[in-house]
Amino acid sequence: MPTDQTDYSPIFEPIKIGNVEIKNRIAMAPMNMNYTDPGGRPSRQQLAYYAARAKGGTGLIVVEAVLATKAPWASTYEKYDNLSIARGKEIRSMANLAEHIHAFGAKVFVQLAVSPGRQGSAEGSGIQPHAPSAVAWEVQPHKLPRGFEPQAIFRALGYQGEIPTTPEGILELAKKIPGAHLGGELPREITVDEIQELVRDIGQSALHSRIAGYDGVEIHAPHGYLMHSFFSERSNRRSDQYGGSFENRIRMLMECIRSIRAKVGPDYTVGVRISASEDLPGGFDPHFTARIAKRCEEEGASFIHLSDGSYEAMNDFLPDKDGQVVEKAAIIKQGLGIPLICPSVHSPKSVAKALREGKADMISQGRQQIADPDWVNKVSEGRTGDIVRCTRCNLGCIGRFMLGLPGKCDLNPMVGQEEFMDEYMKRTYAPVKTRVWQTMQEIGVEPSVPMPGEL
Ligand SMILES: Cc1cc2nc3c(=O)[nH]c(=O)nc-3n(C[C@H](O)[C@H](O)[C@H](O)COP(=O)(O)O)c2cc1C
Repeated sequence: MPTDQTDYSPIFEPIKIGNVEIKNRIAMAPMNMNYTDPGGRPSRQQLAYYAARAKGGTGLIVVEAVLATKAPWASTYEKYDNLSIARGKEIRSMANLAEHIHAFGAKVFVQLAVSPGRQGSAEGSGIQPHAPSAVAWEVQPHKLPRGFEPQAIFRALGYQGEIPTTPEGILELAKKIPGAHLGGELPREITVDEIQELVRDIGQSALHSRIAGYDGVEIHAPHGYLMHSFFSERSNRRSDQYGGSFENRIRMLMECIRSIRAKVGPDYTVGVRISASEDLPGGFDPHFTARIAKRCEEEGASFIHLSDGSYEAMNDFLPDKDGQVVEKAAIIKQGLGIPLICPSVHSPKSVAKALREGKADMISQGRQQIADPDWVNKVSEGRTGDIVRCTRCNLGCIGRFMLGLPGKCDLNPMVGQEEFMDEYMKRTYAPVKTRVWQTMQEIGVEPSVPMPGEL
């Protein structure tokens, strides 16, 4: 029975992003939940997990960070399996994921990631992380999100002594406790040839994404990863064409947009995810990000998807407060001619307000979509009281992710079990091969990659 009579109509206005019509203003933010099968292939669980959110009414699913390079030196993670779309032979399984999500009624973009940069690790992989400059990242203890309190981490690791209260003292102690690592390893400086290899690979991966049936791609450039670290004076000390001036620091991102456009053509939807700010001394602010967003638009991007912070400022990346990024989004939206997606608004009233006030064009939800896949349907039916509200505890999702475990949620025991629910696995057959073939003809691509079904 509908109980909430509030006007939520701004949430249900369709929106066009590039050439893609989306039925409402809610996107599921990209989230790697460690469900990927070995070899970078989508698992049954991954298919069903995304299907649940699509069936719950979410207009747009942005599939988690997907590896968009074949370069072995770029993969410095051992624990976190990423999906991959860099190779032609990966088109088939990634097409199956896009097809599955479409069958449950949502549009689907895929997030293309080339490198964790200095936030990678040689532990396990044996590969030294790379970065614009040899500068390690360091957690700021006062910027840790809920659930990551250093006191709790130290005790969990068996430390019984006194715990300092100052950020400096906490960092010093973390160095002495095995496993309590609160920062990054020293990266090496990435070469210009290596940058160019990543730029080429992301273009090819975008083409694979288009062929696989994704409605659009999103370049992964937030959260302190490689491209973000080029923007920031905290991490970029280069004196070549990738360091120094504003244009130099955003050069790699602009090259990625151009590389993708050259492969997918002008009509395909290509967006960029960037952090709204670094929120740290010497770091960039929303006015700087507004300049990056505008340059992305000039280079042909179709949308901007914001996030915030990095692993140094994790409580911006994983906000403790609802709507924490909205005012930053409003600054970045001024003067921007392409749609802007703002993350982390979970309350239906706050979502409708941010949209009504024109502070964002669309809202993306991460942890809230984990806690309740039916958020959109419940709002549209006036059943907001039935929504399972995410408490931003971070334990089942990012907490488990960082340990290399598959994601769960204390509030929603079905998370991680969706593959056993027929309603999210069964779908009608759609002629994938015909559609893929047509797409290739439309964009004038010779079918040099194997067609799904022929691999
Ligand atoms: C488990 C987990 C994995 C995530 N993985 C990604 C990712 O692959 N790419 C990305 O851009 N952001 C990632 N994020 C960040 C989310 O997209 C989102 O911006 C963040 O959770 C804040 O939104 P929320 O408050 O609605 O959760 C991840 C977050 C979580 C909790």
